[in-house]
Formats: sequence, structure tokens, C-alpha cells
Amino acid sequence: MSEGGQTSPAFTPRIFSGIKPSGGLTLGNYLGAIKKFVAAQDAGKDSIFCVVDLHAITVWQDPKDLQVATREVAAGYIASGIDPTKSILFNQSQVPEHAELGWIFNCVARVGWMNRMTQFKDKAGNNAEKVSLGLYAYPSLMAADILLYHATHVPVGDDQKQHVELTRDIAAKFNHDYKVDFFPMTEPVIEGPAVRVMNLRDGSKKMSKSGESDMERINMLDDADKIAKKFKKAKTDPDGIPESIEGLDGRPEARNLVNIYAALSDQSAEAVVAEYAGAGWGKFKPTLADLAVDKLAPISEEMRRLMDDTAEIDKILRLGAERARDIASPILKKTYEIVGLVR
Ligand code: TRP
Repeated sequence: MSEGGQTSPAFTPRIFSGIKPSGGLTLGNYLGAIKKFVAAQDAGKDSIFCVVDLHAITVWQDPKDLQVATREVAAGYIASGIDPTKSILFNQSQVPEHAELGWIFNCVARVGWMNRMTQFKDKAGNNAEKVSLGLYAYPSLMAADILLYHATHVPVGDDQKQHVELTRDIAAKFNHDYKVDFFPMTEPVIEGPAVRVMNLRDGSKKMSKSGESDMERINMLDDADKIAKKFKKAKTDPDGIPESIEGLDGRPEARNLVNIYAALSDQSAEAVVAEYAGAGWGKFKPTLADLAVDKLAPISEEMRRLMDDTAEIDKILRLGAERARDIASPILKKTYEIVGLVR
């Protein structure tokens, strides 16, 4: 992970990140997000991790599925090593301050800023008149998620960088308009492109929980047979593993499989290419599938155990929400004071 820029020294370092419960967790969520969150937590960083359910409903979710997905994301965090006694782990809707600060930020952010959000443009496509107002305002709620805790660092994928930049714009405009130095300039912590996990059928798209075909992603709860089958059917090209890393240029699907192998085995893509130089996909894919099963099986087993007992997960989320509120509530109170809302 690389960290750039400068945060105001007055703010103590704190990490915040979130995962949307819109469908099951994928290998992309694990390698691109959760695994890094665990590393940050284990390095002793003050960390808050959220299941951002209010973000999920910006597109319609079946209520039962939303509950399952919320608990699945929580289980995924815990099974992967997020320790709810070290980090704060909760679901967003249990801390109403998110929505409240989100409203304040709707009044700070400018329509012109929102119109530049590429993720909104991609998601809305030529259907922009019919998407929810919530989807449009999504980045302003995301800014509230982060700034409600005065978080200084946000580990996210490359696709979220623009939203963290918007968060800084909102913080700067708020501080400027009210002549305060209240919200920090949060830094995105972006992992290198090497760990961005792409769609198995189209290497130009991110592996997503909500893409049409299940064959395009590895779900954290997939069993060994499914994982093997999905890698076997993954799109590739006639050339196998090249002799050097440059041989992956212009071959997004091949690069993706090498990157997944590298991330799962904690090596660089260069090291993987060196080890498998000249191998065909018939050899590489089953090895990759075995490695993925090896890494995911203990996690998915623990996820299933946790999801069998929703009382345990719900308790963890509730206690996490209480701890989150202890931080959030004074910050929201102060925000209301600054804005001039009579309490
Ligand atoms: N928008 C993020 C995504 O789609 C999820 C998210 C919501 C988030 N709030 C956040 C990520 C706050 C980091 C910090 O992946």
C-alpha cells in the first residue's frame, strides 16, 4: 500500500473503510480489501470497518437478501481476521449519525461535483433519469462515513479514489465556509494495480458481487469444485505464462490470473511469472485453483459457522455500533453546533 500527500497533523491517524452488502463477498473483496484491512489492524492501526448497508439500498435490494448479505459481509470480515475487539466492526444503519452527517454534506457538496463522479455515470448509464436520488448522493454519504470519525486514511480500490477526493473537497469546503479546521483531509490508501482482481470472463472489468454471471467471479463461499470449474473456464488466450512480466502487456485476462496467484501466495507477479515461465494454462489454472481453495476454505468454513448463528454476528455488530457511536456522536454534535442548528 502506498500513502501519498499530507494530512493535517492535528488529527490522529485513523483508518475507515466499508464494504457494501449487495450480494455475496468475492475473492476481489478478500484480496483487494479485507486482507489489507486485516494487515492494517494487525499493524496496530486504529481501524473502523463498516458494512455499508445504507449504500447497498441505493439500488433496490430484496429485504431478506440484504439481511443475509449484511451478515455475510460481517462474517467475511471476522473469518478473515478482523478482530472486533481490536477494530470497530459494525453496520452503517445502526449508527444514525451517518445519515445525519450525510444530509449536512448534501448541503455542502455541489451538484457540479456530483455530476463528475465517474462511478455514477457508469452505473446510471443512459438511464440516469430513472436511478434513485440516493445513488446520485452516494458519494456524499461516503464522505460522511469517513469524516464522522475524522478518519485520516481510507484503504480502497482504485475505483473509489475519486470518491475519497470528493470527501476532501467536502471537508475543505465545510472548513472554509464555516471558518473552522474541523474535518481532516483524508488520504486514500490505494493498493497497486497488481492486486486489483478482475472479472474472470472480461479482464477489463472489476470482479463484482453484482455482475450478471456467477462464472465471472469467485465467491468466498464457493466450494472447491466451483472454484476449480470457474478458473478452468476463465477466459485466457492461446499463449501461456510468458517468460517475463512484459509478456503480460495487452493480455488483461492472463495478467489477472497471474495477479490473483501472486496475491494469494503473497508474492510479486514477477516472481510468479519467473516460477511458471512457459507453462500452459492447463497446468497453471489447476495450480491456481488449488491455491485459492487452500486459502479460502478455512475462511469460508468459519463464515458458514458464523452465519449459522446470526445471534453471535448480530451481537458483534451491535456492540461495534455502540463503540462507533461513542466516536461519531460528539463529532456530529460539534458539526451541528458549527452549522448553527439549535439543539
Ligand atoms: N463506495 C465504496 C465501494 O463501493 C463502499 C464505501 C462506502 C466506502 N462508504 C465507504 C469505502 C467509506 C471506504 C470508506 O466500494
